[in-house]
Amino acid sequence: MADQPFLTDIKTLRERARQHIENGAVTQGYSADRETVIKLLNEALATEIVCVLRYRRHYFMASGINAESVAAEFLQHSNEEQGHADQISQRIVQLQGEPNFNPEGLLTRSHAEYVEGTSLTDMIKEDLVAERIAIDSYREMINYVGNDDTTTRRMLEGILAMEEEHADDLVNLLQEMGA
Ligand SMILES: [Fe+2]
Ligand SMILES: [Fe+2]
Repeated sequence: MADQPFLTDIKTLRERARQHIENGAVTQGYSADRETVIKLLNEALATEIVCVLRYRRHYFMASGINAESVAAEFLQHSNEEQGHADQISQRIVQLQGEPNFNPEGLLTRSHAEYVEGTSLTDMIKEDLVAERIAIDSYREMINYVGNDDTTTRRMLEGILAMEEEHADDLVNLLQEMGA
């Protein structure tokens, strides 16, 4: 082990870091396609915002015999989706992009749909469908990013794990309600 062939030598590393310091966290070693990653993250951001809104609506509209516990779950999910939206926005900025909060075209950018639903069961089912869409799209994004942007990947993995929890919560609610 005379040298470490897979690591960049210190001199080159130091020189490279001094170039384009305005790019902040994005260094020359960043091997992902930054524009594409930002575009994908903006689609995920739109999805999260739509999920915040849908869960919020369901929280306020939940009524009936099981309403209280279900509404509490809707509110918690809504807040957690907001947390995801914030994480994603932060990462977009770190990547020298701009988070897209434009209400115009939000539903087109979003993977998940905004369905109001009438009964409590309808609402839970629609939320479950949206979670399943989110799960698949996050999984695809994780595979796309691979080892080229491990920070984004770790963030997406964390979010994916929570969407899976959300889906699981909703399935349990449906079972408890005998739906
Ligand atoms: Fe989310
Ligand atoms: Fe979720």
